[in-house]
Amino acid sequence: MSLCINLTLNGEARDVIIDDPRVTLLDLLRERLALPGTKKGCDRGQCGACTVLLNGQRANACLMLAAGLDGAEITTIDGLAVGETLHPVQVAFIENDGFQCGYCTPGQIMSAVGLIAEGDAGSDPERIREGMSGNICRCGAYHGITLAVQEASRRMAAKDEGDTA
Ligand code: FES
Ligand code: FES
Repeated sequence: MSLCINLTLNGEARDVIIDDPRVTLLDLLRERLALPGTKKGCDRGQCGACTVLLNGQRANACLMLAAGLDGAEITTIDGLAVGETLHPVQVAFIENDGFQCGYCTPGQIMSAVGLIAEGDAGSDPERIREGMSGNICRCGAYHGITLAVQEASRRMAAKDEGDTA
């Protein structure tokens, strides 16, 4: 049995045919929609490698059944930059050595974007570490990741203040 769902995927409306009701959002993205930026680590909700934004909130794509997502808005790492301009969190990860092998990085970045949007990041390293605790980095790049989230959070808050001034 197949069904058609509508997704807003990285800002673009897409009709997507689901031919297996058991397919996860992660497998849909990587294997059927040719968006391999979202990584598969544990495939069971424990590592955060597959983090995307679902209706603006952080979500583990490996735990979501695609068939239940009709009408959802999904942002993946592939849709974060605007043309050639990287998102401030992406810039901060580069500038602060927030990665080594880079495998966990898409999930870390999406989680950081969600955390900052939740308004919980601030610049307190402990709060950032707590807020990012669902994202595992086997390389142990946590120090750079924390610095990157701190810096991106500061820059985005300053930009917001500038925009509303
Ligand atoms: S692959 Fe989804 S949490 Fe690990
Ligand atoms: S940078 Fe290698 S797993 Fe995090």
